[in-house]
Amino acid sequence: MQAGATISMTNNDSLRTANTENLVAAFPSNFVWGAATAAYQIEGATREDGRGLSVWDTFSATPGKVHNGDTGDVADDHYHRYQEDVELMAGLGLDAYRFSIAWSRILPQGRGSINEKGLDFYERLVDTLLAKGIKPFATLYHWDLPQALQDEGGWAKRETAYAFADYAEIVVKRLGDRVAGWITHNEPWVVAYLGHGVGVHAPGLKNMQTAVDVAHHLLLSHGLAVPRLRALVAPGTQVGITLNLSQVYPADERSETARDVALADSFNVRWFVEPLFRGSYPDQLFTDLAVNPPPIQDGDLTTISTPIDFLGVNNYFRWVVRGQEQRPRADSYQTVAPIPGACYTEMGWEIAPEGLRDLLVRLHRDYNVPSLYVTENGAAFKDEWHGEEVVSDPRRVSYLQEYIHAVGEALQQGAPVKGYFVWSLLDNFEWAEGYSKRFGIVYIDYPTQRRIPKESSRWYASLIKEHSARL
Ligand code: FCB
Repeated sequence: MQAGATISMTNNDSLRTANTENLVAAFPSNFVWGAATAAYQIEGATREDGRGLSVWDTFSATPGKVHNGDTGDVADDHYHRYQEDVELMAGLGLDAYRFSIAWSRILPQGRGSINEKGLDFYERLVDTLLAKGIKPFATLYHWDLPQALQDEGGWAKRETAYAFADYAEIVVKRLGDRVAGWITHNEPWVVAYLGHGVGVHAPGLKNMQTAVDVAHHLLLSHGLAVPRLRALVAPGTQVGITLNLSQVYPADERSETARDVALADSFNVRWFVEPLFRGSYPDQLFTDLAVNPPPIQDGDLTTISTPIDFLGVNNYFRWVVRGQEQRPRADSYQTVAPIPGACYTEMGWEIAPEGLRDLLVRLHRDYNVPSLYVTENGAAFKDEWHGEEVVSDPRRVSYLQEYIHAVGEALQQGAPVKGYFVWSLLDNFEWAEGYSKRFGIVYIDYPTQRRIPKESSRWYASLIKEHSARL
């Protein structure tokens, strides 16, 4: 971690100046430019073609859980409009598209009988992408556990890890010859902590011990799935996992602050990175969270640390921590907000591109991660459409410019970054925030499902073009 590193309370000016031409210079010729989405956030068609229900169907149907009572029932209707959406991607010149597969479309009960129609949908999507020269990157789990498995105890039960590995194998049997990159899990920290520790995400449980046990089973399921994927994929296919990581900075030089920065870092970053890349949990983490260690069985950490080809990094913001007098629980550190002079997105997330740069460099330096993909980065702003051809979103353009510049700086400092995926291709169902937060580079007019490009998509297309013109 970066205790003692820059106490940066304002954004780094060098990150604010780059234009497209300068920007692309730092990126190698085979760098992958993509955009990302996730099944429940865009597909809709939740009751079609044999799909089973997931924990997010249940959670969003529970009054008071999601802003405005929104659900993913229709979302962007991508299940029916995927061809139009792939056309959009092709128009932008994307090299790759990251999407997720809904477990309950493939196995409506989580295990047992296979719903071929679910596999057929993803096969159509993958083939449509390939026909346009776009590399498919598939995430196997982006938070939508089949409700039937939740009814048996969900991720708190070890059996769910075995069920996941079986599901992964079923999917890869059908698509393993065509998908370029497999991501076992998206942000297991969010599933464990937000879903089971504080209950703001599905399944809405509030128990820190459960969160820690769930995290272990998620990691175990990843480790169990990796060899089963590898056995069936085409040569050269990349297999990895995606974590949400934020670099933690000290707000001042007090020793309490250094202590709390270290606590926050072990909770945000090391909890997942260290079992994956070192085969151990951070010392003290469970004591610092005031829980017992999870039920670790012999060999689990070896399974979890099975070598992978890449680490996917989702990053939106950094944390700036100010020490409290009394040592806090590891998840109760105090962040500085608002930071004087800082800019924030609609999510209330600080715009701090140096946080992404420093994180990528640190993952390379401290964990010798073989390669890195930024599998999500982007911003929500209050975009409005008044019938124009293009929606104006200048703040998103600057955001992307600054963060992509930061990725270029990380490359120059030796971080092995292979690709960048903007979150998101389309405005979509933003979990507990419902449709109130727009992250897309393409606007969705929900009443008509019309797709309207935002300026940021034009800007991103020009960046990709500029990069390929240099090759
Ligand atoms: C990440 C999620 C993604 C999206 C963005 C804004 O945590 O992986 O689905 O909601 O945040």
